[in-house]
Amino acid sequence: ARAWRGVVEEYRDRLPVAANTSVVTLNEGGTPLVPATRISELTGCEVFLKVEGLNPTGSFKDRGMTMAITKAAEEGAKAVICASTGNTSASAAAYAVRAGMTCAVLVPQGKIAMGKLAQALVHGAKLLQVDGNFDDCLELARKLSVDYPVALVNSVNPYRLQGQKTAAFEVADALGDAPAVHCLPVGNAGNISAYWMGYREYAEAGIASSAPRMFGFQASGSAPIVSGAPVEQPRTIATAIRIGNPASWVYAEQARDESGGRIESVTDRKILAAYRMLAAEEGVFVELASAASVAGLIQSVEAGHIDRGTRVVCTVTGNGLKDPDWALAGASTATTVPVDAHTAASALGLA
Ligand code: F0G
Repeated sequence: ARAWRGVVEEYRDRLPVAANTSVVTLNEGGTPLVPATRISELTGCEVFLKVEGLNPTGSFKDRGMTMAITKAAEEGAKAVICASTGNTSASAAAYAVRAGMTCAVLVPQGKIAMGKLAQALVHGAKLLQVDGNFDDCLELARKLSVDYPVALVNSVNPYRLQGQKTAAFEVADALGDAPAVHCLPVGNAGNISAYWMGYREYAEAGIASSAPRMFGFQASGSAPIVSGAPVEQPRTIATAIRIGNPASWVYAEQARDESGGRIESVTDRKILAAYRMLAAEEGVFVELASAASVAGLIQSVEAGHIDRGTRVVCTVTGNGLKDPDWALAGASTATTVPVDAHTAASALGLA
């Protein structure tokens, strides 16, 4: 087997790149599709996890960023800007380094996970913490990209969704067909829109027999698509999806309606329970927002919206290491022992 070359090279004929486009990549994509034994037992479905936390910067954003930065470089951009709840900024910062560009990021002050802040900083991004929420940051980033020589790499940049659609290709390639249902967390709503684009393309090309029903899940304190109106003060412990006015709102509704799917809300309590369960019972450490897909699946099966026996893929969007605070909260603290086998054995319950 040859080495994985990153999503643009792997799916070049399905992406808007020319033969001579030079690709800015960290060899993203090619992430594992892991059978979820425990969640399958619990739901009666055949469940797989698309583990996107194994991308180069620890989230699915890298798929879109390789495209966005590749095109920005091709168009001669020297600087990029994004608003972010953390992952987009981490990814933009890393890919900007690869392209030799400067990167500016706007994040909601005090509302992004420490690991993500660390990533943006270590990659040398110019970081501003904005006294506002993500939606305010995005509005500001859009204005700056209009008035100053800096390219916007949020998912309102169409190349981002083009890159992100490759995850749907990978899922269908791995399973030999599209699943019946695909579950995702929804924040700015770009990813669900991108997956739908990818699945639709594969179905239209006859590579997959059909496209899945798309199920998206927002945190209940930040669920504008569910309620049908923007949320002025979005709230949730899942800071990655703390978004009150998603940029791809209309596309997400199209994905839902065209696929016969649903967009629902899940409580923070259920997100946290799914997060703990993924780590403790599947061995997969994700960030809180990512667990919304699994919390939503469980809730949808209970509500009768997804039948037992269905083949379901849940995307878990980001790596748990980005935000260890929630892993440590509620965990028992480690016991300190002297260098003594007997004491260690009894502390471990072995003796
Ligand atoms: N999961 C994680 C870990 C995310 O970081 C995001 C979005 C989502 C899910 C939702 O995806 O926005 O395409 O609906 N994070 C963006 C960011 C907003 O700035 O990193 P979406």
